[in-house]
Amino acid sequence: MTSASLPVVQLRVPTEEDAYAWHRVFDDPDVMEFHGGRSAEVSIYEEFTARQRRHDAERGFCLWTLLDEAGEVIGFTGAQPWPHESFGPVGEIEIGWRLARASWGRGYVTTAARITLERLRAAGVPSVVAMVDCRNERSIAVTRRLGMEAAETFGVPRTERKAYCFRLEL
Ligand SMILES: CC(C)(COP(=O)(O)OP(=O)(O)OC[C@H]1O[C@@H](n2cnc3c(N)ncnc32)[C@H](O)[C@@H]1OP(=O)(O)O)[C@@H](O)C(=O)NCCC(=O)NCCS
Repeated sequence: MTSASLPVVQLRVPTEEDAYAWHRVFDDPDVMEFHGGRSAEVSIYEEFTARQRRHDAERGFCLWTLLDEAGEVIGFTGAQPWPHESFGPVGEIEIGWRLARASWGRGYVTTAARITLERLRAAGVPSVVAMVDCRNERSIAVTRRLGMEAAETFGVPRTERKAYCFRLEL
């Protein structure tokens, strides 16, 4: 695929208003299939976006709000410290993505994830992980497009779920 065919995206540090935009565009059973299966409340996104602003202030990167060519919020892509202490790749930098259903299938997240990797390299981050539910084929396909390699498999605490940990050296 040539660079000319890549969609144009913008990534910005989530604003306070973006909590409402994320809530609106993720309020869809397809989007939430591997995130508990149901929509999260606005308060969850208020805390989530505020946490990303803190990551940006402390580290210079975060899960950024993803905007399309028209400047509409269509999701998030970026990186954060792995947010759990008791399981998974504790202490590592995790890249992640979540996209509005209407925007799937256009290459937005792969494009945004490549920008994320460039920014992380520039920030001196040596390696990243991505944790993906074993059944989440679309997300596994993103990790393949990025050249990531499957490493460990983790059981997700208090669930029957398993997640693959993909890794990439930067
Ligand atoms: C995972 C998720 C982000 C993948 O979205 P996506 O649109 O399939 O991912 P990409 O941005 O990589 O786009 C790839 C698709 O766009 C197509 N495409 C079109 N132009 C493209 C381009 N220039 N570059 C790459 N792909 C392009 C690809 O062919 C592919 O379509 P296909 O699956 O029909 O073959 C999305 O399904 C999602 O948000 N799911 C719910 C939340 C979630 O599970 N998040 C991940 C948690 S680990």
